[in-house]
Amino acid sequence: MQTYLHGRDLIGDLDFSKEEVETVLEVAFDLKRKRALRELTPYLRDKVLAMLFFYSSTRTRGSFEAGMARLGGHAAFIESTTTQIAHGDTAKEIGEIYGRYFDGISIRHVDWGIGNAYLNEVAKASRVPVLNMQCEVYHPFQILADLMTIMENKGRDLRRKKIVVSWAYASSYQKPLSVPQSLILQMPRFGMDVVLAHPPEFKLMPEIMDQAREQARKFGTGFEVMDDMDAAFKGADVIYAKSWGAMLTTNDKEEGKRIIDKYESWITDERRMKLAKEDAIYMHPLPADRNIEVTDGVLEGPNSVVYDEAENRIHAQAAVMALTM
Ligand code: CP
Repeated sequence: MQTYLHGRDLIGDLDFSKEEVETVLEVAFDLKRKRALRELTPYLRDKVLAMLFFYSSTRTRGSFEAGMARLGGHAAFIESTTTQIAHGDTAKEIGEIYGRYFDGISIRHVDWGIGNAYLNEVAKASRVPVLNMQCEVYHPFQILADLMTIMENKGRDLRRKKIVVSWAYASSYQKPLSVPQSLILQMPRFGMDVVLAHPPEFKLMPEIMDQAREQARKFGTGFEVMDDMDAAFKGADVIYAKSWGAMLTTNDKEEGKRIIDKYESWITDERRMKLAKEDAIYMHPLPADRNIEVTDGVLEGPNSVVYDEAENRIHAQAAVMALTM
């Protein structure tokens, strides 16, 4: 076990080695067990986390805030619009100043071409860990919770298990690429064969694709890309199908929506789920566009693990906070 993570940032999924992620998982499962037994876990008594949001959230906000309280500390919810950032506070100033007030700084900033750079700039100036609550490139805490959930359902040895990371139709808005990108980076390290499925206009960032292929090579796992949702689902152990935007094809929102609307048939429904293994699990980070992206029958059905997946956010995040702060 690689246990010394004190002071470390978690911005990209590969910032922690595989062994360090294993440590996080050990601690996360232990925290989950302790919670079930009503044991107290005051590992961060008197510590304070800043949670700086540039974008809305249900699960991330709730689970970071409750997670800090369960660890005996406090989380300060800070909406960027209520700060002086619009009046000139720079990322460096936030890192320098909040780094002196708080014991950790978590940030959600998903603006295309801006969010990830912002987090890195804050981290450069901060004396305390910076934790990525989602940027336009990565959503590392979601994927740690996903990994926990997959292990709970498929066992700790995930070698040769097939995960399908699929695009799905959703017309509401162009969702970030960060969840599929983080999935294809992290899952090969745990032995999973990754099948990435999307229509041609929904490519992921080329540098992330290169890194994911490199992880697959390094850990001897499969990595396949296809543009056929049915073919991808065949024989899968894990179906992770969600929408993301065509940001790498167009910067124009209306054009992006026109492209999305070409692929209404990319829905996870009962027929498609039958193409996967009988005991395949269905995953989605939520929020989902119900009966557009995924049917209610699948989302609320026997193969769905979405509520456990949402719960595991709190355990995975508390583990990282306890280890780093
Ligand atoms: N999955 C997830 O990050 O949910 P929120 O956007 O509600 O935080």
